[in-house]
Amino acid sequence: MVGNPDAVHPEHGKSEKTAGKGEGAVSSLREFVQEIEAWLQKSLGNPDIPERLRMAMRYSLLAGGKRIRPSLCLACGRMLGASLDALMPFAAALEFIHTYSLIHDDLPAMDNDDLRRGRPTNHKVHGEALAILAGDALLTDAFGLMASVTFPAERVVRAIAFASACAGSSGMVGGQALDMEYTGRSGVTLEELRHMHAGKTGALLRAACVCGGILAGADEARCAALSRYAAAFGACFQITDDILDETGDTAALGKTAGSDAANGKNTYPALVGLEESRRLAVGLAEEAVAALTGFTGPDAEFLKALAQSLATRSA
Ligand code: IPE
Ligand code: IPE
Ligand code: MG
Ligand code: MG
Ligand code: MG
Repeated sequence: MVGNPDAVHPEHGKSEKTAGKGEGAVSSLREFVQEIEAWLQKSLGNPDIPERLRMAMRYSLLAGGKRIRPSLCLACGRMLGASLDALMPFAAALEFIHTYSLIHDDLPAMDNDDLRRGRPTNHKVHGEALAILAGDALLTDAFGLMASVTFPAERVVRAIAFASACAGSSGMVGGQALDMEYTGRSGVTLEELRHMHAGKTGALLRAACVCGGILAGADEARCAALSRYAAAFGACFQITDDILDETGDTAALGKTAGSDAANGKNTYPALVGLEESRRLAVGLAEEAVAALTGFTGPDAEFLKALAQSLATRSA
């Protein structure tokens, strides 16, 4: 379903035409995204899905996010020897989980946001009940997708267990619970903020990277390096998300700028200011790159360049 992986990274195939041209992170990300979009477009075709539920699920899933998590999973897995075709259902499942987290994050009981991925939020269009159910369905269906990959069963079980831990109560959902607990509260420490970010944002990014490695059959040391990369990447990603909420442009972000301050969220800019937040983001991007020292090839270069681009991202 993925098509020809050579089209994404020619160095992996026989064509040398564009190999070694130093393509930047952006063009490589665009190519991963094309493969992911094509796959997602064909998903959710089961005729047993009630039509309104399918529409609510597709509304958010196909609204054009950056597709960072599946791209990380594909790049990490292929860097360690797996094929894009084999990895794709697992990578797509992580985008299902991420999309569910966004639908629920926007609900009135949580961040109460009106705009997501450049469209009115799911509950604004489909109503709260269907938005909740679309999230439930994306999360649950993700586990079936993960179980459908054709890697050796022992790797698949390990990867699913890892993804479950990252998505659940001690991972993303745990971080979201802390985010809600800290909202409007004064005296939240930097350490508490770091821990909350590692859960709500870092955990799924970690699942993306480490599961790519597990499925590819990577050893413990390599999986640990992917985990260090993802931890720094995730911390940097949420700091820059917080910065952009304060300084970014609603149209470019596809979500309402200023939402954090309006909601009384504890964020890096709120705690340490914009300048220090930017400095920390740059340091974390460098930490992510350093975690991949020793990894070579086009996917390693893509991963390093993507991390490097985070600290100065504008969307
Ligand atoms: C937004 O994630 C939520 C956070 C974890 C900060 P993304 O910035 O990856 O959102 P999309 O997928 O591109 O819409
Ligand atoms: C949300 O963090 C993280 C998850 C959805 C798990 P935010 O609340 O900062 O994300 P945005 O800014 O709404 O995308
Ligand atoms: Mg939130
Ligand atoms: Mg939010
Ligand atoms: Mg945010």
